[in-house]
Amino acid sequence: MAQYILPGATLGVLGGGQLGRMFCVAARTMGYQLVVLDPDPESPAGRIADNHIQADYDDHTALDDLARRCDGITTEFENVPAQSLRYLSQRTQVHPGAPALEIAQNRNREKSYAIAAGLLPVPNAPIKAGTDIAAVIEYTGLPAILKRATLGYDGKGQFVVDSVEQATRAFDSMGGVECVLEKKVELAAEVSAIVCRNASGETACFPVAENRHRNGILHQSIVPARVEPSVSVTAQQQALALAEELEYVGILAVEFFVDMDGALYFNEMAPRPHNSGHYTKDACVTSQFEQQVRMMCGLRPGDTRLISPVVMINLLGELWQPDWTALANEPGVKLHLYGKHQARPGRKMGHFNSLARDVETALQVADRIYAQLAGH
Ligand SMILES: Nc1ncnc2c1ncn2[C@@H]1O[C@H](COP(=O)(O)OP(=O)(O)OP(=O)(O)O)[C@@H](O)[C@H]1O
Ligand SMILES: [Mg+2]
Repeated sequence: MAQYILPGATLGVLGGGQLGRMFCVAARTMGYQLVVLDPDPESPAGRIADNHIQADYDDHTALDDLARRCDGITTEFENVPAQSLRYLSQRTQVHPGAPALEIAQNRNREKSYAIAAGLLPVPNAPIKAGTDIAAVIEYTGLPAILKRATLGYDGKGQFVVDSVEQATRAFDSMGGVECVLEKKVELAAEVSAIVCRNASGETACFPVAENRHRNGILHQSIVPARVEPSVSVTAQQQALALAEELEYVGILAVEFFVDMDGALYFNEMAPRPHNSGHYTKDACVTSQFEQQVRMMCGLRPGDTRLISPVVMINLLGELWQPDWTALANEPGVKLHLYGKHQARPGRKMGHFNSLARDVETALQVADRIYAQLAGH
């Protein structure tokens, strides 16, 4: 039987970045109390929660405190120690659970689960020692990409390589940590499918987003994605299959590559709301953050219908101070800022969603506004 956590109850989140902040806003709107655990005194989510426990993620006194206060706990980033999640789950409800997090923390592990669920990564193999490299390149071909297996994000810890020597140098430069070497495919598009599943096994999919990156960081998400409808449907089906394989409870984001022949490849997954799902805040009946609340509380998935074509653009630190007058006269543009005091290049400070009757118009407006904000 479904056990609901209902409004008035207290929800906890491990991590106080922008994803935690948007989760808190959604949960508070629905009538929940919020506790954030994050070591940073200035964390975007901590500053708007009812309580901010300022401590490390493996501080047992802090975890005890969090568990005592909360009816349910979730995470906003995958690098929380799985051990802490396990510890918390002995005391209160935690979704997603430690096993899913442990899988998502390692690129090699997540690829093997994806394969088990019927998804197809690009040709790749783990690199555990420099001596593995030549044989793996034999298999993947060149150019290839060497990525650290753990702790990579926004394109960090990745090297495009054109020879065994280059790959070996890159591997050594990362201190010989576990890596994966994968074929560099020519991309026609990148898409992501965000799905959700609750403890009763009820699921839903958000519309697939088409994602464009700049310098390894997501720049823009376009919805509906401009790919063959069958590609979008397959991406959703595969993301759901992965959620089932993991017996996942929460929001699962799956990134895919589409190659020049239209083939779909699994890239990676995130056990949480995803930057490419920020468009749902303004353009779907239910946002990915409300959906996160619903999943951890055992509620039915909210309606994921797209209300309007939309383009999301990230606002990074190098843009600061943007010229906000660009937004003064734009009824279809919705700004979201994360309350970060310090702007650094590459740091995600906010985003905006451009909504219009068709995706081309949304894109034109988004690009124009972005150029104006950047002062071009
Ligand atoms: N095998 C590949 N072939 C072609 N392009 C690739 C490949 N792997 C990665 N890329 C490009 O680099 C980007 C970042 O790669 P990936 O998603 O693995 O890294 P990440 O650091 O986890 O990124 P993020 O956390 O922002 O999603 C991809 O979105 C894609 O544009
Ligand atoms: Mg990625």
